[in-house]
Amino acid sequence: MKTYSLTQVTLTLSSLFLAWSLMESRAADDAALKQVFKGHFLVGAALNQSQFTGSNAAEVAIIDKHFDTTTPENALKWEAVNPKLGKFDFGRADQYVDFGEKHGMFIIGHNLVWHNQTPKWVFEDDKGEALTRDALLARMREHIATVVGRYKGRIKGWDVVNEALNEDGALRQSKWRKIIGDDYLVKAYQFAHEADPDAELYYNDFSIENAPKRAGAIRLVKDLQAHGVKIAAVGVQGHYDLLWPSTNLLDEALTDLSKLGVKLMITELDVNVLRGGTRGEVADLRRSRSRRNPYPDGLPAEMQQKLADRYADIFKIFLKHAEIQRITFWGVTDGDSWLNWPGVTNYPLLFGRDFQPKPAFDAVVKAATEFGNEVVTAPVGLGAKWDRHGQPGRR
Ligand code: XIL
Repeated sequence: MKTYSLTQVTLTLSSLFLAWSLMESRAADDAALKQVFKGHFLVGAALNQSQFTGSNAAEVAIIDKHFDTTTPENALKWEAVNPKLGKFDFGRADQYVDFGEKHGMFIIGHNLVWHNQTPKWVFEDDKGEALTRDALLARMREHIATVVGRYKGRIKGWDVVNEALNEDGALRQSKWRKIIGDDYLVKAYQFAHEADPDAELYYNDFSIENAPKRAGAIRLVKDLQAHGVKIAAVGVQGHYDLLWPSTNLLDEALTDLSKLGVKLMITELDVNVLRGGTRGEVADLRRSRSRRNPYPDGLPAEMQQKLADRYADIFKIFLKHAEIQRITFWGVTDGDSWLNWPGVTNYPLLFGRDFQPKPAFDAVVKAATEFGNEVVTAPVGLGAKWDRHGQPGRR
């Protein structure tokens, strides 16, 4: 009988292992996110002009393959569509909606009422004085009627009010609130419903995982519901880092929010790899002279792995929550991300600047595959309406 040395056996086993892991990573590379998560949630990306005009062909290929829903990063914000009193400019917004339709995507509108990216004139009369409540309400109604009305039946869901809460859960003292009063929210949702009764209306905010702000979001949605507003979903923005939110906090927050009886959507997901991390790493970053921009030339392998593990942990929690209907990344590749502040090179998404899927992509695909056999119970509020957009029901 032929005998094999330990070295031969080890070599054979390790080359088998290498071949297997290459096959595995190849399989992950071939995977399309929208297929991988079919039956769990839609997967989307926020798009910028270079993507929805088609000029960035490499990214259009990624979008086409992986995403079945989309949000405009800036093209539908007040300052973009209504820069001056009485002047609407729908050039970019039209291109965005055309792109979404051409690629068969579930199209989201973002956003109608916000304290940012809203020109100063909105709140002032022609003498530069603060508008009266009635005048500002009239302006809000006209804006919403014009924008939502234009895309009636094409944009399927709207972030009606964005970021209305402070960290302590109280209503933010925005100009909207200062001039109109707390009922500016109810009014905004009523105007949006008037303009397109079939559109889903969302409330969208960041860090509502934290208990005080989460309680504020729950109060806010209950108050809207008490006023007869049919709110379809809470948008959890999902601007995360390596530590925050902990998986426990995330799990607890999603459980709590789902008790509202509305859908949940993760609307602006990214993981800031330059924030969080262990105390040691943070200390190292602080000591380093380049702490604002520690990785200008690429992310070291161990940080790639950390990001991948973090994404896997986050997705395992998302997968547990059947009421989540959509997960949208805030950008397609790292190069697009808003987290590349001037002078900062960040790596928060699943695709790199070279347009290739990163280890974080493989980790997310693996999380879905491993979850595959678990039973997902029917989500709250999943109805014929959602199915009409071509979504299969959940298992
Ligand atoms: C950001 C965009 O990504 C940037 O391009 C823009 O300069 C500022 O706004 N919460 C939101 C998004 O709801 O609209 C923001 O988008 C990111 C934070």
